[in-house]
Amino acid sequence: MITVWLLNGLVIVIFLVMAQYVYYDWKLGAAATPSSSRAIRAVIDVLPENAKNIIELGSGWGGMAKAVAQARPDAQVTGIEFALWPYLASKLKAGGLSNLTFLRQDFFKYDLSTADVVLCYMPPEMMERLPPKLKADLKSGAVIISNSADLPGFSAEKSVQLTGFLAEKILVYKVV
Ligand SMILES: C[S@@+](CC[C@H](N)C(=O)[O-])C[C@H]1O[C@@H](n2cnc3c(N)ncnc32)[C@H](O)[C@@H]1O
Repeated sequence: MITVWLLNGLVIVIFLVMAQYVYYDWKLGAAATPSSSRAIRAVIDVLPENAKNIIELGSGWGGMAKAVAQARPDAQVTGIEFALWPYLASKLKAGGLSNLTFLRQDFFKYDLSTADVVLCYMPPEMMERLPPKLKADLKSGAVIISNSADLPGFSAEKSVQLTGFLAEKILVYKVV
């Protein structure tokens, strides 16, 4: 009897997680697909030395922001995520790191003017919506690092092709 109850509970939890995944994918235009560990390492490798304020747009489950905060203890890292479960999971992940903050917010409504670096991993349709926001907010010299998708209207200063099944690339842009 207890086993049946537990199985029913598990099915309900899986259903709720899947339902929110589909809902936020539809609402935001991007599912919470995490960057691969290879991409995370490559992003850390191209971070500018002097970056003090790093903001991740759509931080998902928090893996990228946490790795960056650990690699760069001298920088303040902020992950902005709207989807509830990934945000809650990333809050749990952040425990103990004083230079890492997660906010549950629509990043289009967040002021990016103090960012030295902006990180993103979005589908191409979503990347098309970013340039007006980035051009309006970011200061000259700020760096945008994109996992995989090009940023329309900007020309990449550097492109790092990653090997492996996903054929990812890391693109680095500088605001002039
Ligand atoms: C492809 S995932 C990338 C997750 C993470 N950046 C990584 O590299 O592992 C994109 C994330 O952006 C979030 N997102 C999309 N639009 C958003 C918005 N307007 N405000 C906040 N988060 C958003 C989605 O919920 C999703 O978790």
